[in-house]
Amino acid sequence: MRIGVLTGGGDCPGLNAVIRAITRSGIGRGHEIFGFKDGFKGLIENRYIVLNHESVSGILSRGGTILGTTNRDNPFKFKQIVDGKEVYLDMSGTMNENYHALKLDCLVVIGGDGSMRLANQISASTDIKVIGVPKTIDNDIVGTEMTFGFNSAVDIATDALDRLHTTAESHHRVMILEVMGRDAGWIALHGGAAGGADIILIPEIPYNLESINKTIQERIARGKSFSLIIVSEGIKTLSGEQIVREGIGMDIFNVPRLGGVSSWLARVIEEYTGIESRATILGHLQRGGSPNSFDRVFATQLGARAAELAAKGRFGEMVVLRENKITSIPLEQVKGVRLVPIDDPLVKTCREIGLSFGD
Ligand code: F6P
Repeated sequence: MRIGVLTGGGDCPGLNAVIRAITRSGIGRGHEIFGFKDGFKGLIENRYIVLNHESVSGILSRGGTILGTTNRDNPFKFKQIVDGKEVYLDMSGTMNENYHALKLDCLVVIGGDGSMRLANQISASTDIKVIGVPKTIDNDIVGTEMTFGFNSAVDIATDALDRLHTTAESHHRVMILEVMGRDAGWIALHGGAAGGADIILIPEIPYNLESINKTIQERIARGKSFSLIIVSEGIKTLSGEQIVREGIGMDIFNVPRLGGVSSWLARVIEEYTGIESRATILGHLQRGGSPNSFDRVFATQLGARAAELAAKGRFGEMVVLRENKITSIPLEQVKGVRLVPIDDPLVKTCREIGLSFGD
């Protein structure tokens, strides 16, 4: 078989481990593997490399993706300059032609919810055979109980909270750590539980400033002159208001880009409580660097199962984690985003041990 592979959307730790596993297990079955550069853009522009033992050597522990990626291109509305003007064209036909010219049997798309949506659309509207591998630090893809990259991002958030803890204590301050996740609070929830945050703010549980203030005051009354807050970038008030990143525009699905709510929150908390407050935005540190051991193993398993699906001709499916087993589901079932249920067992545990969700 001839198998194409691409990575789409924002990167995350573990992408190279998947590429390596697909390549090695594919070659083991006698297949040829082609890696497209920079997501769907590479397939549109016919930019690819042949993946072999040599090209995937030493990449298991490397962050990022050796193939490159982008979260700015939609092949169905692909930005091009025609006669000096910006136009958006449907390039799915070109992708189809390039796929067939290379005599590919299938395309493995390693991506987040946006890439899976596109993979589904490609499956439905072209004769490209697609297999999905879900990735994202956000952990928000429907159908899988976890995505690779998430565990490494939680480790980074935990380490950051540990560091903020000591300086918060020395200076008697409120320290706020802002983490990514868009509309899903998984990183904040798990990072906050692991790093001993006093308040965890997630988009799924609307926050209330009075309640945050009350928790901080209660801690002071108990002799704790500092507080640690972990906040997910997409938190909302009860009326659904969100702080979005100014001047950076919308993503390819017309959703505003997030980031910066912690700076606003620090100002407001300082005014409200009179306690010095500081914000740290963890940002892309959560996406860069080496995957942890869990994500290396998990990503390797997902990549090997994707290669197995290809060998079995099981196209139109996405590999997933279900009840601790790697299995697969139809791509068309991957719709929407997987949010933290407000009765998630970890939310319950955190409440039981006295953490606040600012509600
Ligand atoms: O979806 C992954 C993610 O890292 C989100 O958590 C975050 O909101 C977004 O991507 C950031 O995107 P960009 O890299 O375009 O700033």
